[in-house]
Amino acid sequence: MSEYGESAEYLHLLSLPMWEVLGPRLAAILADGPAEGTLVELGAGSGLGTTTILDAVPRLPLVVAEPAAQLRAVLLARLYEHPEGERVTVHPVPAQELPLPAKIVGVVGAHMIGHLPPSDRHALFTALAARMRTGAPLVLNAQPPATADPVPAWPPFGVTCGGLTYEGTGSAVPTGEDSVRWTMEYTTRQGAEVLHRATAEYDWWVHSPARLAAELAAAGLPNAEIDADLVIARR
Ligand SMILES: C[S@@+](CC[C@H](N)C(=O)[O-])C[C@H]1O[C@@H](n2cnc3c(N)ncnc32)[C@H](O)[C@@H]1O
Repeated sequence: MSEYGESAEYLHLLSLPMWEVLGPRLAAILADGPAEGTLVELGAGSGLGTTTILDAVPRLPLVVAEPAAQLRAVLLARLYEHPEGERVTVHPVPAQELPLPAKIVGVVGAHMIGHLPPSDRHALFTALAARMRTGAPLVLNAQPPATADPVPAWPPFGVTCGGLTYEGTGSAVPTGEDSVRWTMEYTTRQGAEVLHRATAEYDWWVHSPARLAAELAAAGLPNAEIDADLVIARR
């Protein structure tokens, strides 16, 4: 089972509030990309970024990498029901193995870039930069911790759906100079009663916005703009 197998049930619901803020920011960045070519999304999860991209950029095809089968199930079900879902091709691979289109007009990697070790990021950024059309944006968001420090668990955050509440919290421990291991804990509650528990664990390669911008510059995308957690490079 993938690292997201246990948490797939929770990911979409608990990500919705983040996308209320991120969605309009991302849509504004993507709106003025080149008119002809293909969009790319890395690690689409349940598709909250995918539908944002479809709504922000009319007409163009979108290729997606999503390695977790349990999240692809949610993504494909949502795309099949979406009026523009036919534009999206979902590849069951990690970003490192995505067949890249020749003319890329925009790249999005939301809440996922820490899954890639620095050497894989360099290879991917270089391959993307070589295929991006002039003016095409590449958008990543940096997530803490920026350095390999322990992260204590935060108070559980929850979303209610029907009569049940779905909650999550997480903590991380350093595993090396550049990496931490996250343990995410989820519960489904009916009032005070816990009906279900799930745990997901994954390695995470730490990064700051400035580090991602420097890595993009080294891969041929200089002068990336940093807007709080977002790193936006243009070809
Ligand atoms: C926290 S989720 C974010 C999902 C979605 N982008 C969002 O913001 O709602 C992280 C996603 O990265 C995916 N992922 C893990 N390793 C990956 C890799 N090497 N390449 C691409 N995606 C990866 C996971 O399967 C998961 O869908």
